Amino acid sequence: MATGAWYTDRMGTRTFFALDLPEDVRDAIVEAQGRLRSAADGKVNWVERENLHVTMKFLGDVHDADLADALRAAASAVASVPRFELDVRGVSTVPPGGRDLRMLWVNVHEPTGRLVELFGALEDALASQGFGREDREFHAHVTLARVKHLRDARPLREAVKDLADADFGSATAAELTAYASRLTPQGPVYTPMGRLPLGT
Ligand code: 2AM
Repeated sequence: MATGAWYTDRMGTRTFFALDLPEDVRDAIVEAQGRLRSAADGKVNWVERENLHVTMKFLGDVHDADLADALRAAASAVASVPRFELDVRGVSTVPPGGRDLRMLWVNVHEPTGRLVELFGALEDALASQGFGREDREFHAHVTLARVKHLRDARPLREAVKDLADADFGSATAAELTAYASRLTPQGPVYTPMGRLPLGT
């Protein structure tokens, strides 16, 4: 174990940036998970309440020597984007149809474009520090469940349809949280490393 905090090792710190969600939005999502759970016939990992968030950028393992610079660059980018409101609404599946079902998520709507602006500012700042850009288009979401295997995906797909327009509430994006992620047999443990305020 390298020196430093408990979540580091010689690979560094598995790092990502996310927008956190208020209690009422988490409550509504947990309730929806409860409804969907009974329709899932197989092995599904439901995201724990404290782990529900909107991932903005996943860095993977960052060497401890590079971490402070990455957080500083991200903080400066985040401060350049004014805070905004987002709506959390509608459950979707990945992929959208078919026998395969890998993920359930809730969609995040932000009509003014500031969410996309935040993503772009973060990407640019971290690219300047040598971190790779995403090759997929950014689609903001809150992951509810990761499906390992289902005997039959149809009942779960039907249950998701009932929540296709469900309203989970809104959130103010006033800060971005930098998280360290530690993978354990009981599931991931996310520890905040820094809170990066957006602009006003
Ligand atoms: P997800 O919400 O789309 O599943 C912490 O692990 C967060 O980082 C997760 O919420 C997950 O986003 C994202 N993440 C984990 N592994 C990733 C990877 N290999 N590539 C991109 N994002 C990843």
